Amino acid sequence: MSNVVGRAVNKLNHLFFKTVGKHIGMGSPVSKSTWEQQYSSDVWDYLENPDEAEHYECIVEFYKKYTSSNASILDIGSGKGVLYSYFKKWQPVSFFGIDISDNAVKAAAKQFPEAKWETVNYDNQYVDGKFDVVIFNETLYYFTRPVKTIKKCLDENMKSNGLFIISMCEYEGHDKIWKDLEKVLTVKEERTITNSKGQTWVTKALVLKLL
Ligand SMILES: C[S@@+](CC[C@H](N)C(=O)[O-])C[C@H]1O[C@@H](n2cnc3c(N)ncnc32)[C@H](O)[C@@H]1O
Repeated sequence: MSNVVGRAVNKLNHLFFKTVGKHIGMGSPVSKSTWEQQYSSDVWDYLENPDEAEHYECIVEFYKKYTSSNASILDIGSGKGVLYSYFKKWQPVSFFGIDISDNAVKAAAKQFPEAKWETVNYDNQYVDGKFDVVIFNETLYYFTRPVKTIKKCLDENMKSNGLFIISMCEYEGHDKIWKDLEKVLTVKEERTITNSKGQTWVTKALVLKLL
């Protein structure tokens, strides 16, 4: 898809999200060409700034608290590997990052060759392997049907008794996504983090709900 077509599709997706999608628990997908273009420039480099640190550190804390040692991690929408850098600061972990953007994956693999990285559109592609922990860090709301994405993950990539760590910034429609997720998943712990710029994230550790 060319960048012009990609941008038009993004606009339509966002318009649909604003008018309908946000009320019914849908996400707002962004085209692969847009992600490629953004990762070929410095659009997302601010994620490495210290005022973003607390919500990354919270994910590492939840991992430490709720998993046994060396639990394997699948990070869906891993970008340039910023979250991995926080794990690495702590200790080596078994980490597999997937992202729709080749540019993001190449940057992550160049900086952190010891971890595993792959270009995958998780909306429609299959990932081999089951993991103890699956993380969606500021990513789940880019999927058309976030709860369907979680169900795919439970079927294909989550070990039994596995842990989800999901973080979403505060934004219209995200409350509805959380509400729908909690029909399927039980929250073990949640934290709301606001940084010095007034940006707020909600981060939760969740497991499959027992029926
Ligand atoms: C806001 S960025 C967050 C990046 C990273 N999780 C972080 O916090 O550093 C959202 C990421 O989701 C990825 N993404 C969006 N849709 C995706 C899809 N369908 N499959 C895989 N990755 C996707 C994007 O390429 C982007 O890297």
